Amino acid sequence: MKVNLNLAVVSLCCVIVVVMRVSSKNMMRAVQFREPGGPENLYIGEVERPVPGKGEVLIKVKATAINRADTLQRKGLYPVPAGVTDILGLEAAGEISEIGPGCNQRWKVGDRVMALLAGGGNAEYVSSPEGQVMPIPSTLDFPQAAAIPEVWVTAFQLLHAIGKVMAGETVLIHGGASGVGTAAIQLCVQAGARPLVTAGSAVKLETTRNLGAVGNFNYKEDDVVAEVMRATNGKGVNIVLDCVGGSMYETNINVLGMDGRWVVYGLMGGGNVNGDLLRKVLAKRLSITGTTLRSRSLQYKEQLVQDFSRLALPLFENRTFRPVIHTLFPLAEIGRAHELMEDNLNTGKIILQVEESTGKEEL
Ligand SMILES: NC(=O)c1ccc[n+]([C@@H]2O[C@H](COP(=O)([O-])OP(=O)(O)OC[C@H]3O[C@@H](n4cnc5c(N)ncnc54)[C@H](OP(=O)(O)O)[C@@H]3O)[C@@H](O)[C@H]2O)c1
Repeated sequence: MKVNLNLAVVSLCCVIVVVMRVSSKNMMRAVQFREPGGPENLYIGEVERPVPGKGEVLIKVKATAINRADTLQRKGLYPVPAGVTDILGLEAAGEISEIGPGCNQRWKVGDRVMALLAGGGNAEYVSSPEGQVMPIPSTLDFPQAAAIPEVWVTAFQLLHAIGKVMAGETVLIHGGASGVGTAAIQLCVQAGARPLVTAGSAVKLETTRNLGAVGNFNYKEDDVVAEVMRATNGKGVNIVLDCVGGSMYETNINVLGMDGRWVVYGLMGGGNVNGDLLRKVLAKRLSITGTTLRSRSLQYKEQLVQDFSRLALPLFENRTFRPVIHTLFPLAEIGRAHELMEDNLNTGKIILQVEESTGKEEL
């Protein structure tokens, strides 16, 4: 009887160990927040590892990044699109660890990839539609790759798909030292257009100048309208890439030339306009287009990612383009990363390292 009891206890222990092994295999670390609010609410929690659905691949994340949308979501000001995980993170770089059902064999386990995500990147694993995954150029490590999907694909969309930039045109880029701005400057130069930028400090403007911006204006000190008109011989710019909105609207209507295109993709300066906006829109035949990327259809995002992969990735491979990184934090320091971004201190991207290895230590 005693022997039987001992056997029962041993068997129970074995079952518990097996169950723990299985369940820990299905768990992962991910950025979580207790309730909407400040960066102090962020923590690393244990959650279930995603299972790749039809047409999806699972990525073992080595590096990811933060974006303004994450800070807004954390504050409860950015509703997660329907059907999307509420884990933060719009981009990630790592290795394919599993192929979901119905994939078209484009990827295999172990491939080095980066992905444009609707969410879920700030975690050890993320599931992504296979069409939103891109190969990492051989010249880049994981943190550099994690700096690309969201801001570079956005900038590519703003300039080409929406702004229809043409060689010889002039583009004014607000937030020139931001993640999107540093990408947009390089894409502009490559398109044969002239980038002018605004930013809020001399240090940031030094970086934008080095990236190829031909006019670099401090919107806190300079008369931006006068400077832009001087830089364009009084003609004004063809395109404004505007992530500021309300506080910059007068500048924008004054610097845009005839038939100018005003692309609104962020509202860091608020959404209110209060003045005779439409008179100049009419007189200059301006067009105003608002755009968001996260909420676009799968099909739209996949096409954009394919276009970007074809036209822009080779230029990372030959080092014409370079992702601009401000800081690398371990994933656990997610709160500090959000603070840095909300204090407007970053030039380029803030990266989170999920694993210490960069995957290319020699770079
Ligand atoms: N619509 C889309 O699909 C889409 C996609 C991605 C990003 N976005 C938007 O694009 C913008 C840039 O994103 P990001 O991740 O590249 O940003 P980021 O790296 O955090 O940089 C944003 C920079 O903008 C400047 N800024 C902040 N508030 C400002 C204001 N009121 N007036 C003028 N400049 C201001 C700050 O630099 P200074 O020191 O120069 O002031 C700040 O560092 C955000 O608004 C984001 O939401 C939109």
